[in-house]
Amino acid sequence: MKGNRIIGTGMGLPARVVTNEDIAKIVDTTDEWITSRTGIKERRIAEDHETTSDFGATAAKNAMEMARIGPEEIDLIIVATLSPDRLLPSTSCLVQGKIGAKNAACFDLEAACSGFVYGLAVANGMMPDMGVKTALIIGAETLSRVLDWTDRNTCVLFADGAGAAILRHDGNRDRGILSTYLKADGSAPPPWLTVEPGVADLNPLGDYGSKDFAIRMVGKEVFKFGVRALPDAVNGALGRTDGVSLEDVKLIIPHQANLRIIDAAAKSLDIPKERFFINLQKYGNTSAGTIPIALDDANRQGLIEKGDIIAMAGFGAGLTWAGTIVRW
Ligand SMILES: CC(C)(COP(=O)(O)OP(=O)(O)OC[C@H]1O[C@@H](n2cnc3c(N)ncnc32)[C@H](O)[C@@H]1OP(=O)(O)O)[C@@H](O)C(=O)NCCC(=O)NCCS
Repeated sequence: MKGNRIIGTGMGLPARVVTNEDIAKIVDTTDEWITSRTGIKERRIAEDHETTSDFGATAAKNAMEMARIGPEEIDLIIVATLSPDRLLPSTSCLVQGKIGAKNAACFDLEAACSGFVYGLAVANGMMPDMGVKTALIIGAETLSRVLDWTDRNTCVLFADGAGAAILRHDGNRDRGILSTYLKADGSAPPPWLTVEPGVADLNPLGDYGSKDFAIRMVGKEVFKFGVRALPDAVNGALGRTDGVSLEDVKLIIPHQANLRIIDAAAKSLDIPKERFFINLQKYGNTSAGTIPIALDDANRQGLIEKGDIIAMAGFGAGLTWAGTIVRW
C-alpha cells in the first residue's frame, strides 16, 4: 500500500439525451429489445462541436472542485480513451490546455474499456517516486463518432461522456488504493471488438478508400469474455490486497456494458446484484468513461463513505481486463 487516495471525482456528459425510442427511428430495433438484452434505456450523444477532450475537461474541473485543488497542483494527467480528438496531439495535452494544468506531464492510455482502471494503476505506480503527488486520471470517449449508425448490433450500446478522479499521495497508508490487477490477452481474434480502419489500413501513399470507420463487434464472444473477466478482475485485485475479502467490499463499480453481464458476474461471485453499482440504464457504454462516471455518480449519491472498501472492475477490447480495490 502506498498512501495514494482518491480525493475528488467528476463527470462530463453531453446534454443531449438519446432514448431507445430515438434509436428505433434510426435502425430496426425496439426499446423492448434493447432494454431486455442490455438494460440500457438512454444514453448521451455529443453535439457536432463537442469532443472527447471537452468532456474530459469538464469531468476534470468537477473532480478538482470536489478535491478543492487548483489545476497547477496537478503533476500528471492520464486520459484513457479509444476515441481521442486526434492521433496527435494527445487528448491529455488538450485537456491540460483546457484546464490550465501547466505543471502536469500528460499522456494518453489505450486499454479500451479497462482504460480507467489501467490509468489509476499506472498513476498509483508513479506516486510519489516519479515526482507525482497529485494525478488526474480521466476516462473519456466520443464513441458516437466511431459508430456505424446502420449497424444495430453496435449503435444501440455505445455512447459519449467522461469521468475523472484526482489521486493524491498523502502518505496515509490506511486509506487509498489497496491493490491493482491488470490483465490482457492479445491472442483473441481482433474482429471480436475493433475499430477499423486504422493506420495499418492506410495505403502509405493514399487514403482509407471506401472502408467505414466504425466499431465492429462479435457480441456473443465479447459477452462470454465479459462474464469471465469481471469476476476475475474483482478476485484478482482482492488477491493482491493484504487479506481483504469479498465480504469486506461494500460496493463493486463494474464496467457498464450490459446488465446481463453484471447479473452473471454477481452469480459467479455468489453475491447479490445490489452490491454492484449500476447506471448503464442512463448512460450506456461509454467505454473508458463508464467506471469513472459510475464512481462519481455513486460518490455524489453518498453511497461511498470514509473507510468503505470498494472495487472497480473493467473489461474490453484487446482483450484487456483490470480491477482495483480502494479504501475510501
Ligand atoms: C450485443 C448483444 C446485446 C446481443 O445480444 P444477444 O442476446 O447475443 O443477441 P444475438 O446477437 O443473439 O441476436 C439475436 C437476434 O437479435 C437481432 N438483433 C441484434 N441487434 C438487435 C437490435 N439492436 N435490435 C433488434 N434486434 C437485434 C440479431 O440480428 C439476431 O437476430 P436473428 O436471430 O434473426 O439473427 C450481446 O451479445 C452483448 O451485449 N454482447 C456484449 C457486447 C458488449 O458488451 N460490448 C462491449 C464490451 S466492452
